[in-house]
Amino acid sequence: MADDAALRVPPAHEIIVVPPPEHDGRHALLQQCIQVRIAVFVTEQGFPLEVEVDEHDPTATHFLLRLLPSLKPIGTIRAHKVENAGSSYYKLARLVVLKEYRHYKFGRNLVLALHDWAKDHARNSGVIDFVKIVCHSQAVRADSAGAVAFYRKFGYEEEGDLFDEDGEPHQKMVARLSLAE
Ligand SMILES: CC(C)(COP(=O)(O)OP(=O)(O)OC[C@H]1O[C@@H](n2cnc3c(N)ncnc32)[C@H](O)[C@@H]1OP(=O)(O)O)[C@@H](O)C(=O)NCCC(=O)NCCS
Repeated sequence: MADDAALRVPPAHEIIVVPPPEHDGRHALLQQCIQVRIAVFVTEQGFPLEVEVDEHDPTATHFLLRLLPSLKPIGTIRAHKVENAGSSYYKLARLVVLKEYRHYKFGRNLVLALHDWAKDHARNSGVIDFVKIVCHSQAVRADSAGAVAFYRKFGYEEEGDLFDEDGEPHQKMVARLSLAE
């Protein structure tokens, strides 16, 4: 797979940040993110539709990967900041790429776009050393190897034991990104 993937030329695309709440265009673009998520998490993977949209969607920062020039939405990821007893981190969630567009490094590009955004956001909040990102990775399931090995490629390390989330095993993973870079 690695050799094949290295040879694959991705179709023309762009990653946009969905405008923040109350800004023009957010609703339509957020709906596109959610439709891509439903195609993967609900239709492909069988997670319940009821848990797909949650309380973080209205305020989170969403990224949409779409093809050019068609603007067809094919991938998404989201981030939100969590303040916890004096410390804070960013939660990475809802990463998907439509099945037919995988292994073009789109997942990588979405993670790195989120990292760049989180670093800028942290710097603008006065943070100077590092930014902490947390995700709950799908672990091994009957129909896939999960995403733990994927996240490890971007500096994430496992923390704690597997736990159930939405009826499937997940692994908490944490990355600490230096702001010196
Ligand atoms: C996980 C997912 C987003 C990866 O997207 P993708 O565009 O195919 O990934 P990329 O092409 O950017 O892959 C980047 C690297 O990770 C590797 N990789 C991709 N998916 C992987 C997986 N599930 N496990 C381990 N490694 C993986 C690739 O081989 C590539 O390695 P390389 O850089 O050493 O060549 C995609 O498979 C997906 O949407 N899966 C279903 C939804 C899902 O599980 N989301 C995560 C929820 S926690």
